[in-house]
Amino acid sequence: PTTIPHESTLDDAISLISEGYPYIKNRLEKYNSNIFETRLLGEKAVCIHGKDAAQLFYDNTLFWRKNVVPKRVQQTLMGKNGVQMLDDKAHYHRKALFMSFMSRDRIEELMRLLMRYWRAYARKWEKMDRVILLDEASEIFCLAACHWAGVPLKPSEVRQRAEEYMAMIYGFGGITTRYWRGVQARKRSESWNEQIINDIRSGKLHVPESSAAYQIAWFRDLDGELLSTEVAAVELMNVVRPIVAIATYVAYSALALHQHPEQEHKLNTRGEEYLQHFVQEVRRMYPFTPLLGARPRHEFEWSGYTFKEGTLVLLDVYGLLHDPEIWPQPEEFKPDRFKDWSGSPFDFIPQGGGEFDTNHRCAGEWITIEAMKASLKFLTRELHYIVPPQNLRVDISKMPTKPASGFVIAEVKYVGLKV
Ligand code: HEM
Repeated sequence: PTTIPHESTLDDAISLISEGYPYIKNRLEKYNSNIFETRLLGEKAVCIHGKDAAQLFYDNTLFWRKNVVPKRVQQTLMGKNGVQMLDDKAHYHRKALFMSFMSRDRIEELMRLLMRYWRAYARKWEKMDRVILLDEASEIFCLAACHWAGVPLKPSEVRQRAEEYMAMIYGFGGITTRYWRGVQARKRSESWNEQIINDIRSGKLHVPESSAAYQIAWFRDLDGELLSTEVAAVELMNVVRPIVAIATYVAYSALALHQHPEQEHKLNTRGEEYLQHFVQEVRRMYPFTPLLGARPRHEFEWSGYTFKEGTLVLLDVYGLLHDPEIWPQPEEFKPDRFKDWSGSPFDFIPQGGGEFDTNHRCAGEWITIEAMKASLKFLTRELHYIVPPQNLRVDISKMPTKPASGFVIAEVKYVGLKV
């Protein structure tokens, strides 16, 4: 018998969309439980919370990802038949492709490119009245990501391509306009990336062998065949798009600095370890991934509840990052809390948990951390700016969210090394 709390509404999709990030957390507090059952988009869903829940969720013998990603997310954020939707051997094989891009050398190369574009953009900002950091950073990350991944990008295209990626990222939680912009952006971007894959395969376009574009174009699946053009394009976009997404974490880092002015001095005096803890705290505190989904492969019991085969199970990512039992005073920005963090793969999961090679944990977590650190160093050591009055609210009822203004800076001066 099921003993867990039930939401009594007919379908709670509207509440999820209107409450946003704290949807699961709000109900768990109401029921004083780490699990509850609800209905979302016409089906039963079980929401789970906590470190043990995360460990359960990443047990491949219990859960898989078959039929998890809703259509609206496929049409915007993810595309169809990419690595996120695979299980077992097919997943391990495809995931190894992504992890092969994450060698130390390749990450260092990306950071070099990133710094080059940050510095070039800073010169441009000196002549501008106001600079929307999120928009500019999305272009910088798009330039660096495309260059690194072997994707040709003309200067005249940068704005459009960066905007398309941002529209895909921000499209999945939208209801009307935001959602449709995401759908359109994915269609345009997919045909652009399909063309690139075709041009590499036909010999029209030469890209370095070490690049993601080359590796994806010539990758052979377990059946020994090349990926279809469509799937290869989706996977190439799975490299570039999330690198562009790091722009949001850069805007959050700038916001954290602005909201906690004492941090600048600490960042300048306390060395690399503090920098690391600062960006970890940004990833913990500021909302990005709200929740993750999986389905039981077969029936099992956990926490007194019978999980039925195929039921949608949602892991509360946002709630775990704000759980006071794991993160005391969770609404306070305290990088030092990471001094004591155990490094567990199940309690700090802003980009998913478990193992990189065998679970769906984000392939780009190291890139994200390194890029956030490099960008933060740039903002604090190479740039002077003021933060004019603006709407900096982060609306947690919107998924995904960001600082409302995109973080505007003004009176920008580049004071770094002239390299
Ligand atoms: C998967 C978040 C940056 C590539 C994921 C997952 C999350 C996530 C939540 C799913 C975990 C799961 O399903 O269990 C983020 C965030 C990022 C970011 C918030 C920073 C803004 C990156 C970067 C890359 C990347 C820079 C670079 C290539 C991937 C890939 C997957 C993934 C390929 C699929 C992994 C799999 O299914 O096995 N990411 N990510 N992400 N991410 Fe990221």
